[in-house]
Amino acid sequence: MFVKEPLAALAEKISVCTKCPLHEGRKKSVPGEGPANAEIMFIGEGPGFHENEQGRPFVGAAGKFLDQLLAQAGVTREDVWIGNVVKCRPPGNRDPLPEELAACDTYLEAQIKAINPSIIVTLGRFSMGKFVSGAKISAVHGQMRKVDDRFVIPMFHPAAALHQAALKPAILADFANLPELLKQARAAQGKSVREEEILKQNEKPKQLSLF
Ligand code: URA
Ligand code: SF4
Repeated sequence: MFVKEPLAALAEKISVCTKCPLHEGRKKSVPGEGPANAEIMFIGEGPGFHENEQGRPFVGAAGKFLDQLLAQAGVTREDVWIGNVVKCRPPGNRDPLPEELAACDTYLEAQIKAINPSIIVTLGRFSMGKFVSGAKISAVHGQMRKVDDRFVIPMFHPAAALHQAALKPAILADFANLPELLKQARAAQGKSVREEEILKQNEKPKQLSLF
């Protein structure tokens, strides 16, 4: 039997989802896009006007700025997965409500499970809130931390930085530091894989000597 690729199957479900009231204003849902095996997932807030028209994430003004930030970090859009915590546009770009975030979270969870990224970059406080509880974004932006088996890097939302001039230097600096954080994350992960191999090798002779 033909089994649909999990991300495509999720996108199809999202396009007809009615689990929260945000579906009422939906022109196009924005499931997110990028390689199914992306090493890095960027997770924003929710579709804005242009995203709702096109069904693609970060294609408006914030998206243009994100493209610049990515380029500055030496990352191309094609290499990474980009999506949001809610897949349908909140009216007038208002903040997503707790019950909307909760309703939509099953999709993001399934996407994370399918992609299994080693690094998650959260854009804005709603996305950060999913991984880091009780932190203030102004205090922790740009700092990488381990959450379960992944590295999470909270960043300011590009739209916030566009509208609040004071945040712009910080978001620029955080993205400029992204290559260094990626290096650290990869090194840490490479190390843990090696450590596991060494552990296994050390275990074998012991196990064998029991028999
Ligand atoms: N802002 C977001 O958080 N996500 C988008 O996709 C576009 C703008
Ligand atoms: Fe469904 Fe998420 Fe859209 Fe709400 S925002 S209708 S939960 S896909």
